[in-house]
Amino acid sequence: MNVVMIGAGYVGLTTGTCFASLGCNVCCVDLNEERIRNLKHGQIPIFEPGLGELVAQMTAAGRLDFSTDLAAAVKSADFIFIAVGTPARADGDIDLSYVEAAARQIGRFIPDEAIVVIKSTVVAGTARAIGQILKSAKGGRNVYVASNPEFLREGSAIDDFMKADRIVVGSDEPATAAAMRELYRPLIEMGIPFISTTTTDAELIKYAANAFLALKIGFINEVANICENAGGNVTTVAQGVGADRRIGQNFLQPGPGFGGSCFPKDTRAFAATGRRYGAPQTLIERLIEGNEERKAMLADRILAVLTEKRRSRVAILGMAFKAQTDDVRESAALTVVSALTKAGVEVRGHDPKARGPAQSVLGTEVIWHEDPYAAAHGADVVAILTEWDDYRALDLKRLADLMNGKHLFDYRNLLCPESVTRHGLFYHGIGRPLVKPPLDDRRKSAGGSHLWADVAASPI
Ligand code: NAD
Ligand code: UGA
Repeated sequence: MNVVMIGAGYVGLTTGTCFASLGCNVCCVDLNEERIRNLKHGQIPIFEPGLGELVAQMTAAGRLDFSTDLAAAVKSADFIFIAVGTPARADGDIDLSYVEAAARQIGRFIPDEAIVVIKSTVVAGTARAIGQILKSAKGGRNVYVASNPEFLREGSAIDDFMKADRIVVGSDEPATAAAMRELYRPLIEMGIPFISTTTTDAELIKYAANAFLALKIGFINEVANICENAGGNVTTVAQGVGADRRIGQNFLQPGPGFGGSCFPKDTRAFAATGRRYGAPQTLIERLIEGNEERKAMLADRILAVLTEKRRSRVAILGMAFKAQTDDVRESAALTVVSALTKAGVEVRGHDPKARGPAQSVLGTEVIWHEDPYAAAHGADVVAILTEWDDYRALDLKRLADLMNGKHLFDYRNLLCPESVTRHGLFYHGIGRPLVKPPLDDRRKSAGGSHLWADVAASPI
């Protein structure tokens, strides 16, 4: 089967490569000439574990190719996937212009029997609207459209596609559903459920799934706030709650607020859809606000321990919105860095994979370092924002010795509080009470730094 993937980003490149590994002939098409040129030379534009190797294998096997020539690629396609971006508009709704533009381009060249599959995350009704665009581009001839939302996560994208919990395909005619089932047959034979729906239901499933997962995170973050004030431990509470199979353990990890290119954008779009259809999604509306407030609140916690902000230095460890990706879109670290620099604090930064993307957003707001110890050198505060294994394995004695101040903010609960305080540092975790170092160490640190503030007296 010939598959064309329009858009060679996180989703298009991963799913295109996976379809090649399932035996299809795949061509990934992108407008970005540099991206395609690099891909042709085996250079992967994103950091995604295992993807480089699989791209190399599939290219060598002759089943994966890259092109900027949409017309040529589409001519012999059986399935044309649209996997272009659907960014948020200022009003929260999504910008469908990339999907619509792709549809107009495809419509001019599409073979009569080919199926256009919408992989991008799109609001209810989009597949039908795209069907109309294709039809008019084809001079009124019939078109076949399917909605096939993608549920992969960055960082585990290949496994999420190849071992998905389910495949959802929406189509408004049985022949299209049957062809899509045939395309996915290797995965269905491995036991992955195939859920066949209307296009509108498929579109709604995608948003409702992301909104629900985001709600779980927002919920546990609020539970974490109670734990901090009531002397509880959110990790234990989450374990106990998640042990109920109706709830489950996944997505109950508290943190600095969800980020990434999907949850923030998709919850906003889902809320906008609710407003459009007179069915306000009040839980989601509040979740969105609460998540942004949380990012700002966690920046304030850091600022609260710095008595002389303009003479303070903070090291931020981790810029990516989560580990195993170089993506910094809507990362909590960006909000924290901006709040700190706005208050006059000098920010030093480190990330094992996302330095480049972070640097292109933050520019000179941050002084960058190649390793976490260099970033922590002379810092009054070290704050961990991304759960990279590199930070789990930090040599805490070395870190404490290099720092000027005594505060470590672990916004991913990576470290054992006692092993941090043993080296004279205050441990500020999430959903755990503040843990102070032994008194002797505190006296030493109070004498050593003009920036030290008595957090014991602060509300943190
Ligand atoms: P991305 O920004 O990484 O990639 C999109 C690519 O499309 C870019 O390379 C861009 O140059 C290209 N493009 C845009 N218009 C084009 C056109 N007309 N012709 C050819 N190429 C074109 O985006 P992404 O993260 O892969 O997301 C794509 C869609 O998938 C979005 O709707 C997103 O919400 C959804 N999604 C993303 C993820 C994820 O983890 N990133 C997971 C599931 C769903
Ligand atoms: C998310 C969904 O998990 C995917 O199923 C979906 O396909 C994708 O969005 C999408 O629609 O594009 P992704 O954004 O790659 O995937 O990452 P997640 O692992 O879901 O994490 C999102 C954010 O939530 C991150 O900031 C992460 O740190 C945070 N998170 C996640 C928590 O704070 N706690 C958790 O327990 C899980």
